[in-house]
Amino acid sequence: MAMVYNLVNDNTQRKPKEYIANLEGKKGILEVQDLSAWYGDTLAIKHISMIIKSQAITAIIGPSGCGKSTFIRCLNRMHEVSHGGRVEGCVLLDGNDIYARDVDPVVIRRRIGMVFQKPAPFPTMSIFDNVAAGIRLTRLWTRRWELEEVVERSLRQAALWDEVKDKLNQSGASLSGGQQQRLCIARALAVEPEIILLDEPCSALDPAATLKIEDLMRNLAEQYTIVIVTHNMQQAARVSDMAAFLLMDQDRAGILVEYGKTSQLFTNPKDKRTEDYITGRFG
Ligand SMILES: Nc1ncnc2c1ncn2[C@@H]1O[C@H](COP(=O)(O)OP(=O)(O)O)[C@@H](O)[C@H]1O
Ligand SMILES: [Mg+2]
Repeated sequence: MAMVYNLVNDNTQRKPKEYIANLEGKKGILEVQDLSAWYGDTLAIKHISMIIKSQAITAIIGPSGCGKSTFIRCLNRMHEVSHGGRVEGCVLLDGNDIYARDVDPVVIRRRIGMVFQKPAPFPTMSIFDNVAAGIRLTRLWTRRWELEEVVERSLRQAALWDEVKDKLNQSGASLSGGQQQRLCIARALAVEPEIILLDEPCSALDPAATLKIEDLMRNLAEQYTIVIVTHNMQQAARVSDMAAFLLMDQDRAGILVEYGKTSQLFTNPKDKRTEDYITGRFG
């Protein structure tokens, strides 16, 4: 096939390749085709292609600055919000290009939610309102009892309900770091996304809180598709089903070096660079 990627803002020529709906028995939900991303004139990631499996955990690993955050921000159209942010290539969600001209990025960000590195509850809002915030943004009007239902369901899914059910009106900032991160996960879950992107969600947490989030991710993966950026090799090996290793190339742009089953990538990497990185021989 000739042209497989084009400028985002020149959608007349966009032409995704055929969508591969199945990957080794598991359904693919997100197919990245020849994705490159820029900040102004600076190329941050280049020519990345991969298929993310549904109801699985995919870990994105690689050294600092190799484009992990940029990559996942391209998966829910957050990258274009950055100054000078621009994307080429396609990202197919259930076979439909999220960058197609008629697609509303707000809808994509609802279907593909995001949780950031530092737990960032809205400090002036109560725990209840923190979880309800996303729904209030996406719906014009919701009855109080409906909101209460959604907030409880989301907090239960985020394994936080028992710890906060008696203090829903307290500030989100009154919670511990690990609780705040689960609060942010509850907020992301409240709008019923299909995919959740987590960008180093445990980097500010202690080991106990980290394990709690990892358990939570395993439970959520039964229903949701999870993509997690982590620089913690043990974490990637522990929680993920699939792993992608990114590295900066000679042009200082992030490339996908290797992608495969976590068990294979960590025990029998195909690429020397992956092996060097996972064994800590990487500078
Ligand atoms: N908002 C931004 N503006 C300009 N350059 C950026 C911005 N964010 C990241 N970059 C650059 O893009 C590259 C990839 O960054 P990033 O995706 O944050 O890497 P990682 O998450 O793997 O540490 C880096 O060279 C970084 O300096
Ligand atoms: Mg990052």
